[in-house]
Amino acid sequence: MSEITLQIANLNVYYGESHILRDVDLSIPLGKMVCLIGRNGVGKTTLMKTIMGLLKPRTGTITYEERPLLSYSTDQRARLGIGYVPQGRDVIPRLTVKENLLLGLESLSGRKKAKPEVPEMIYELFPVLKTMLSRMGGDLSGGQQQQLAIARALMGQPRLLLLDEPTEGIQPSIILEIEAAVRRIIATTGISVLLVEQHLHFVRQADRYYAMQKGGIVASGSTQELSKEIIQEFLAV
Ligand SMILES: Nc1ncnc2c1ncn2[C@@H]1O[C@H](COP(=O)(O)OP(=O)(O)OP(=O)(O)O)[C@@H](O)[C@H]1O
Ligand SMILES: [Mg+2]
Repeated sequence: MSEITLQIANLNVYYGESHILRDVDLSIPLGKMVCLIGRNGVGKTTLMKTIMGLLKPRTGTITYEERPLLSYSTDQRARLGIGYVPQGRDVIPRLTVKENLLLGLESLSGRKKAKPEVPEMIYELFPVLKTMLSRMGGDLSGGQQQQLAIARALMGQPRLLLLDEPTEGIQPSIILEIEAAVRRIIATTGISVLLVEQHLHFVRQADRYYAMQKGGIVASGSTQELSKEIIQEFLAV
């Protein structure tokens, strides 16, 4: 298999007549975490939605595991192993934690769905969820809901995980737990991750970064070389 999980080339996306993403090129190596940074409203979520098939680009290509991703529907993309945790997390408030988790099985084939249960690995990553299985999703704290949303995406056994601002509005101790869980997921399962993030400590856990401004990629490199200038310009620290 290719060493690149996702390759985006020359992507242009519009909302009506507004040109949002401009000639975006981005690649995610197998088993690596890539972070997309940029100020509010530059187009980060638009890129995530386009990868997931919720928006259709005007031009460009997205190649996922050597397949032309744009020819697949959103459901098919999920079944091909792309897990998406949207900004604002999207936990279903009137379902229990367990029911929310089991929804994550939807993207698996019939055989794997036949026995709906939560793998122990999920509770090892997010121990708090095990103690709350019969609580309503909407009764969890913001940080717990974010953990639930990530856990639900993992239930579908993704090979590429898209995380859109998982630490937004979350208290620092939970941010560290989420960071550690994401690092552990990568180390134990070898999946690739695209992370949109504003929290510098988390950004530094990624292998590479891309910085976006007005819908275009204006800088990229190893996160070990993140300069003060880049941090000041692209992160709201
Ligand atoms: N449904 C929509 N219709 C029209 N314009 C939109 C729509 N959604 C977003 N936009 C515009 O597209 C641009 C990019 O939005 P996007 O949500 O991708 O930004 P973002 O980088 O994710 O911002 P944030 O950091 O605030 O989440 C913004 O100017 C926004 O106003
Ligand atoms: Mg956004």
